[in-house]
Amino acid sequence: MRLAILGTGNVAQTLARRLSETGHEVTFGSRDPASKAGLKAPVTSLADAVAGNGVVINATPGAASLEVVEGIGAAAFAGKVLVDVANANTPSFELLYPNSSLGEKLQAALPDAAVVKTMNTAAMAVMTEPAALPPSSVFVSGDDAAAKSTVKSLLAGFGWPDDSIVDLGRIASARGTEHYFLMFAALMQTAGSPKFNIRLVT
Ligand SMILES: NC(=O)c1ccc[n+]([C@@H]2O[C@H](COP(=O)([O-])OP(=O)(O)OC[C@H]3O[C@@H](n4cnc5c(N)ncnc54)[C@H](OP(=O)(O)O)[C@@H]3O)[C@@H](O)[C@H]2O)c1
Repeated sequence: MRLAILGTGNVAQTLARRLSETGHEVTFGSRDPASKAGLKAPVTSLADAVAGNGVVINATPGAASLEVVEGIGAAAFAGKVLVDVANANTPSFELLYPNSSLGEKLQAALPDAAVVKTMNTAAMAVMTEPAALPPSSVFVSGDDAAAKSTVKSLLAGFGWPDDSIVDLGRIASARGTEHYFLMFAALMQTAGSPKFNIRLVT
């Protein structure tokens, strides 16, 4: 699959490395592509990255993500899958959207795209390499079943078994996984490391 990743930070590079290893072709979209020489995949403008790819991953800071996609323009996202892995918090680690979620805000801003929230509930090294921990869970939220299938196939490629991928339903359920950020921060203090995850048991 050909994918664009918005952002060139830690998460973008971790995702790009693992996507390449699992057979995908990645292009980074950056605010300043000329300054990003040396990355392991091509870097273009944000708009060109979206234009050239049907699946786009949002790996920008959650507080900036809406501005980033609105800057590119909703029309550019028509018919595309936007995989949103961002967490939207303030500099003091409070929720930016305590009565909503970034996933919902992105879907409202991009009505002709299919936004899928996933991979925001653990460190990206865990999300892209689940076999490094005992069996755990990854969550998927979105209104479009076909877009969620696309995302589930990417997760399967990273090594997530079928029964570890928990489909939470519509994009409004991203509230749950985004608000879990507070619990994640507390657990990280307790665990003394970001290398942990949770599992749904019934
Ligand atoms: N750290 C994790 O393990 C983890 C796990 C799950 C989810 N997340 C989420 O993943 C997202 C990315 O995290 P990260 O650690 O990769 O962040 P980061 O290192 O700060 O990188 C974010 C990238 O977004 C781009 N960007 C676009 N607009 C920006 C703006 N206004 N200010 C700053 N950067 C901007 C930048 O790339 P250009 O300079 O090339 O434009 C930047 O390198 C965040 O939303 C985070 O909550 C992180």
